Amino acid sequence: MLPLFMRSIKFLVGLAFIGVLFLSLVGTIVGLVKEPPQPTAEEEFHHHPKPLKLASDGPFGKFDNAQLQRGFLVFEKVCASCHSLNLASFRDLQQIGYNEAEVKKIAKDWPIKQPVQDPKAGTWGERDNLASDRFPKVFYPGTGTPPDLTLIAKARHNGGAYIYSLLTGYEDKQPAELLKNFPGAKTPEGSHYNPYFANLNIAMPPPLTGDDQVTYSDGTRATKDQMAKDVAAFLVWSSEPTLQKRHAAGFAVVIFLLIATGLAYGAYLTVWRGVKH
Ligand code: HEC
Repeated sequence: MLPLFMRSIKFLVGLAFIGVLFLSLVGTIVGLVKEPPQPTAEEEFHHHPKPLKLASDGPFGKFDNAQLQRGFLVFEKVCASCHSLNLASFRDLQQIGYNEAEVKKIAKDWPIKQPVQDPKAGTWGERDNLASDRFPKVFYPGTGTPPDLTLIAKARHNGGAYIYSLLTGYEDKQPAELLKNFPGAKTPEGSHYNPYFANLNIAMPPPLTGDDQVTYSDGTRATKDQMAKDVAAFLVWSSEPTLQKRHAAGFAVVIFLLIATGLAYGAYLTVWRGVKH
């Protein structure tokens, strides 16, 4: 008698669990049908990055040093007052075509100095940058926290195109439809409307405001669009300076594997020649 009683209790407990799960499922479905989830301002108004073609794209891509140097100039003159590039050293700039003397000069003239601590007194002072130093950290007193830009192209989906679009994507006014449908999504004080930024309102004031903000020494016209493209190319380089080497190593490995496969197949044919199998 007892075993049967125990068995039915187990069965009833199981049934109760299934019942509760089923009820909650029905509740969720009814809720979804009665009150479908409302679209958010971000879902409706966020733009995906505009297409950007860079010389370094694709498996055969090579960095275009002239463009990278232009991009560095934009970084130096426009972005570096707020953003650091702390995972790169000044001497890394030799990889994009600056010579040793030029790098030393860039480091020495860099407006933000290297902090140094007096080992005896423990007090902090500063000195000029050396070619072997990392780009120094930047103190930014304004609204928001400018991220370090060394790896930003890797940290955002489709990084190069994203940076280019973000820099050229500011809009003076929010679309009227956005304010009508989402009154709560009004750009807060100290932020700027930019549909390429994930939450539409970014604390960074538009850094590129018009043409000729920098003067290129290679004769390229410094339009706003060109400066945005160049600095995006530079930040793609800073996020992976070894990209070309990685591609070359990949090709060497694939060619080696193809040859090895051919040899292995030849060996197989020789070893099994004349053997019935
Ligand atoms: C006046 C200071 C200032 C200048 C100049 C500036 N930025 Fe910014 N930047 C910011 C701040 C502040 C943020 C953080 C924004 C936020 O989180 O809302 C930011 C964020 C960014 C981001 C990250 C966006 C994201 O997806 O999180 C990128 C990329 C960027 N800036 C690129 C640049 C480039 C490139 C330049 C130069 C052309 C530049 N910035 C110049 C202040 C500045």
